[in-house]
Amino acid sequence: PVPPPEPSAVPPQVPPPAPALFTWEFATDPYPAYAWLREHAPVHRTRLPSGVEAWLVTRYADARQALADQRLSKNPVHHAEPGKTGIPGERSAGLMTHLLNIDPPDHTRLRRLVSKAFTPRRVAEFAPRVRELTDRLIDGFAEKGEADLIHDFAFPLPIYAICDLLGVPAEDQDDFRDWAGMMIRHGGGPRGGVARSVKKIRGYLAELIHRKRQDLGDDLISGLIRASDHGDHLTEAEATAMCFVLLFAGFETTINLIGNGTYQLLRHPEQRERLQASLAAGETGLLETGVEELLRFDGPVELATWRYATRDLSIGGQAIPAGDPVLVVLAAADRDPARFAEPDTLDLGRRDNQHLGYGHGIHYCLGAPLARLEGQVALATLLTRLPDLRLAADPAELRWRGGLIMRGLRTLPVEFTPSVRVAP
Ligand code: HEM
Repeated sequence: PVPPPEPSAVPPQVPPPAPALFTWEFATDPYPAYAWLREHAPVHRTRLPSGVEAWLVTRYADARQALADQRLSKNPVHHAEPGKTGIPGERSAGLMTHLLNIDPPDHTRLRRLVSKAFTPRRVAEFAPRVRELTDRLIDGFAEKGEADLIHDFAFPLPIYAICDLLGVPAEDQDDFRDWAGMMIRHGGGPRGGVARSVKKIRGYLAELIHRKRQDLGDDLISGLIRASDHGDHLTEAEATAMCFVLLFAGFETTINLIGNGTYQLLRHPEQRERLQASLAAGETGLLETGVEELLRFDGPVELATWRYATRDLSIGGQAIPAGDPVLVVLAAADRDPARFAEPDTLDLGRRDNQHLGYGHGIHYCLGAPLARLEGQVALATLLTRLPDLRLAADPAELRWRGGLIMRGLRTLPVEFTPSVRVAP
């Protein structure tokens, strides 16, 4: 007879239960849930709050591969349930043909044309304007000794910056600010009002482009109209959709870079002091690596934008049927211990930091040079002008916006010793 098995001294390893996704706790701190998924269900099918079912890809290697996999289309016609996903309001406003919704060869053509106008050089020349805007916004609250850094700073900076760069006249920029406010308040919620305001912005942009065509200037819209590739140009409709995607892709992301970035610096005093010392010494190296690290550690874009399997395929050994949406979880991939040493530690000097915060492959963020500029100027100016900046709220009580794609704070209350700007 076979003897009964010895009772094992080590209890069987039962994985901890699967974490709840998309709850309030998850919005506050999704990283433990992502660690669980990476470990136990790296390519995981889930029902999103909207009711749509999608795959979440959480390991770095799988994420990077999926972002570059052209069998995953950006075009929602490949979704088994088209119409349920994408940027709120874009469909009814007739704004579907933009970079984030198309594949090669159409994507290649549009990206080539926009890259002729939205160049790193144009961004570098825009730096003094970003500094001016940043100082002006800080002037607005520096004497008060307190502020909500989202409302007073992180929110207005990117929208004014991109409006300026595009060439939207100053007197119209507050309409864009209102529109941007509506988009971030209701982006994941009631769509009627959003659809109306997207239509209004589309109408405004189309008219502005039409007017500028008669009278070209130095701004980015004029650059888009001029851009030519072997005799090929953007049509007015394409230029309108391009301006829309630049506005849309560039404002909430940058709000979150400044918001999440400042928040994490305030929560890591030793890192913040290190950065302040380096800025005081006139160095920029730590600022540059630091902004990249903040993007990795608590980046603005939690999930890359929608992708759809155009055929049956497999990711990380998991079969995915054609028509299913695939969401690459950048926030999970960028904390993967298989890629980053001590991934849950914020290290502003991190060198080996090929994070996915700006995506990867042909849809890699077109606005990355502008985002870097704004992030670096915003954080450096805040820490220099308000050196004793501190959180004025219990971190546990801060509310995060619950959208699916983005991760960002609703408010960031701070206090500091009031200061007056010394004229430069
Ligand atoms: C694409 C992140 C700022 C314009 C992307 C993608 C990511 C990203 C992850 C790829 C999406 C995907 O593959 O699904 C960010 C972050 C930003 C930022 C973290 C700020 C810190 C900006 C700004 C602009 C911009 C300021 C423009 C003014 C775009 C555009 C695309 C894009 C046009 C689409 C590119 C394409 O499909 O070819 N961004 N972005 N972004 N971003 Fe950004």
